Amino acid sequence: MKIDILTLFPNMFEGVFTESILKRAQESGKVTIELHDFREYTEDPHLKVDDTSFGGGAGMVLMCQPIVDCLEHIKTDDSKVILLTPSGIPYKQKMAYDLSKEKHLIIICGHYEGFDERILNFVDMEVSIGDYVLTGGEIPAMVLVDSITRLIPGVIREESHIEDSFNDKYLLDYPTYTKPRVYRGMEVPEVLISGDHAKVDKWRYEQALKKTEERRPDLLK
Ligand code: ADE
Repeated sequence: MKIDILTLFPNMFEGVFTESILKRAQESGKVTIELHDFREYTEDPHLKVDDTSFGGGAGMVLMCQPIVDCLEHIKTDDSKVILLTPSGIPYKQKMAYDLSKEKHLIIICGHYEGFDERILNFVDMEVSIGDYVLTGGEIPAMVLVDSITRLIPGVIREESHIEDSFNDKYLLDYPTYTKPRVYRGMEVPEVLISGDHAKVDKWRYEQALKKTEERRPDLLK
């Protein structure tokens, strides 16, 4: 998969994209990530990318021209263009699965007070990572890239993510334990030491269901 990210702050991605699983996924060629500073596309002599809002109001609004020109430079027939905004569709694991099947994602990060609304004519979907407002789309872009990349076949062991979703029904994870068997008087549940795999699977499923019912009943609807 190819992922292009349009941002005014490409340095923010350093670290997140150069460590651990995202690093390995790129080294193995499973994903190619490219950052594009759309300020480089502005036609403004002072390199401006934003301006005041028509009708008044505080804050600066990102202009269409630099973003659309950058977009048109990298877009192909296979591209899916995602705009990150708090007013977008709520991001869910199901969306991560669907997006992990795409050939080419283009992710646009906003900043300041928002976008010129006309940018929407150039994007396929608007996505929000949650009901809170961040200073820009960079952290949401990292969230998308991380959650999508781990679902690309061969990036992590398949069982690791088969367990985090039952088709499009999502259960919270079951409890896990490691050594020692007793820590400060707290014991690992007996069933996990029984060696009976069917029993372990059943227990894990029940625990996941119980946790989901208690904490996130909305996920079961
Ligand atoms: N930009 C600012 N806040 C955001 C959010 N919650 N989701 C996506 N993009 C954003």
